[in-house]
Amino acid sequence: MTGGLVAAVLGALAISVGVQGLENGLARTPPMGWLAWERFRCNIDCENDPHNCISEQLFMTMADLLVSRGYTSLGYNVVSLDDCWPEHERDEQGKLQADSKRFPSGIPALADYMHKKGLQFGIYEDYGNYTCGGYPGILGHLKTDADTFAEWGVDYVKLDGCYADPKDMDQGYPDFGNLLNATGRPMVYSCSWPDYQLASGMTPNWTSIIATCNLWRNFDDIQDSWTSVASIINYYGDNQDDIAVNAGPGHWNDPDMLIIGNYGLSYEQSKSQMAMWAIFAAPLIMSVDLRSIDPKYEAILQNKEVIAVNQDPLGIQGRRISKENGIEMWTRPINPSHGDEHSYAVAVLSQREDGIPRPVTLTLKSLGLTSSDGYHVTDLFDNYNLGVVHPDDEITVHVNPTGVVLLKCVLASAQ
Ligand code: GLA
Repeated sequence: MTGGLVAAVLGALAISVGVQGLENGLARTPPMGWLAWERFRCNIDCENDPHNCISEQLFMTMADLLVSRGYTSLGYNVVSLDDCWPEHERDEQGKLQADSKRFPSGIPALADYMHKKGLQFGIYEDYGNYTCGGYPGILGHLKTDADTFAEWGVDYVKLDGCYADPKDMDQGYPDFGNLLNATGRPMVYSCSWPDYQLASGMTPNWTSIIATCNLWRNFDDIQDSWTSVASIINYYGDNQDDIAVNAGPGHWNDPDMLIIGNYGLSYEQSKSQMAMWAIFAAPLIMSVDLRSIDPKYEAILQNKEVIAVNQDPLGIQGRRISKENGIEMWTRPINPSHGDEHSYAVAVLSQREDGIPRPVTLTLKSLGLTSSDGYHVTDLFDNYNLGVVHPDDEITVHVNPTGVVLLKCVLASAQ
């Protein structure tokens, strides 16, 4: 590259950094990994429940399994603490400290353990006086905490919003993001800012959120049930005009963790969560006990084709096209593209509970897929090929109660 070109590129970069605020160049596709909260909560009872309590052992074990069971090679590469990891008091310098009984080796050693396995290490804190679980929050310690995280080798920070005034977050979340960036250590920044503001009736400043956070929660915590998953899907559909446009490379809506493999979802419902999180371009953050997950559920989490839809480089969040009699059609534009035309992932989701697989007849045209050369259509869970389907052709799929059919429709003209 010539000197002039370098200067021009740097200039353009400076302009784009200026315009995009905190853009840190991370999370070009939705983050993937493992997070403790949904499955392991704030279980700090290591005396009576040593295998399930929040301790360094739990995170090391999960890291081992991510690697040995092949999750890492599919992209699941962040292991993250959630609440309840620190001591209740900061040290004499005002620094956070890990609970010394449950994390005897300390956080830098745990981060190191992850790095040696090719994994990234995530931490949890809260923009408030306390975390939701009552541990120290960052208020009054923003710079110390950002610097500490960098010094400890943290790669990913989830910043919650309990015990804070949502009105302060428009200033506070960007301030902390700036401090993270100023450390010089790249750290993915996961925010809860819009969730707390929406819950208090405020209208979030999406421009600022997009420029500040790599991902952000905007709705209730996921719980271990289909009712919870369905409420999130409905929220994403009902509010898509406000939220879908905010997603793109580097900045994603976060509908919360994958609960596949736990107690609350059936096999069909697990496929539905995986398919919908792929349509949403959602972070794929599992919260499950990898020591005991049933292979059938592991296979859902490890479905390469569905992961590829989720990780599609266009980074366009999908939308609900229709909802009728409990049957919903969702589409997401994906690569390969040809000119203005895209390939698509299509989810036919049933929220019906009456027992039979429901026949659904559709044309691709009715979903907005109009390329005259047609599309090569495959089913991504049942792994069958429907051949080339033209926009006006009728196809019929059978969708099980609270289940999904996920189709990949690849532009014939792009091949
Ligand atoms: C909030 C967050 C959850 C989890 C808990 C921890 O509820 O939304 O994801 O981090 O706090 O206390």
